[in-house]
Amino acid sequence: MTVVALEGVRKVYRSGAVEFEALKGISLQIRQGEMVALMGPSGSGKTTLMQIIGLLDRPTEGRYLLAGRDVTTLTENERAEVRNQEIGFVFQAFHLLPRLNVLENVEVPLTYAGYSPKERRERAIEVLQKVGLGNKLKNLPSQLSGGQKQRVAIARALAMRPSLLLADEPTGNLDSKTAVEVMQLFQELNEEGTCVVIVTHEPDIADYTERIVRIRDGQVESDAPNPHRKRAVGGPA
Ligand SMILES: Nc1ncnc2c1ncn2[C@@H]1O[C@H](COP(=O)(O)OP(=O)(O)OP(=O)(O)O)[C@@H](O)[C@H]1O
Ligand SMILES: [Mg+2]
Repeated sequence: MTVVALEGVRKVYRSGAVEFEALKGISLQIRQGEMVALMGPSGSGKTTLMQIIGLLDRPTEGRYLLAGRDVTTLTENERAEVRNQEIGFVFQAFHLLPRLNVLENVEVPLTYAGYSPKERRERAIEVLQKVGLGNKLKNLPSQLSGGQKQRVAIARALAMRPSLLLADEPTGNLDSKTAVEVMQLFQELNEEGTCVVIVTHEPDIADYTERIVRIRDGQVESDAPNPHRKRAVGGPA
């Protein structure tokens, strides 16, 4: 099954009288179970593309089918609903809520989806154990290492059991050992069937994926299987 199908997606940013065409007609398909790296120079349009795939932004032109459904015509509320149910996000800067503890941060999307306090707690604990943080439930984000913060963000992204996990430079703020641990976690999730798309500048990180899409000046420059695919080994510290 095709999870993401983009057809001729253009994105034009407007600020006052100035227009900038960040995406110049992107067509891209990502199938169920794939793990893809999105690479390309700074300013080439990677984040713009991820925001469109993640329904945080709309294309100016073109079509987007998510799991076969045309999501370009949905209302804001419908898009928020699909985002909550189907898509998990991980960002370079973690974006955790500083006043909430680890458990509460992971409960946020579950609260939004209307789960009961008991269900929320159970699910949040389950995903936090999965990312190796079952012993940090009551810690505040400020009391965690970078790698631990990113694992909380990953747990939060997984809490709703999304079919698509999008990560924009998820290892950008991590040391190389911790980065490999995060990639191992992504590989495990991918093996369980989650579609994973990762933006990265680092060839070492892209090598953990099976397909590399290169973006340049708002266009797909190349799209090819990764012949060097590596397996991340070693558990979370
Ligand atoms: N809100 C905006 N308004 C105007 N221009 C924007 C906006 N957001 C992004 N751009 C422009 O669109 C282009 C693509 O930006 P984008 O953030 O997608 O690049 P990127 O590939 O993610 O870069 P980086 O690797 O530095 O994160 C850039 O030239 C940027 O200046
Ligand atoms: Mg970016």
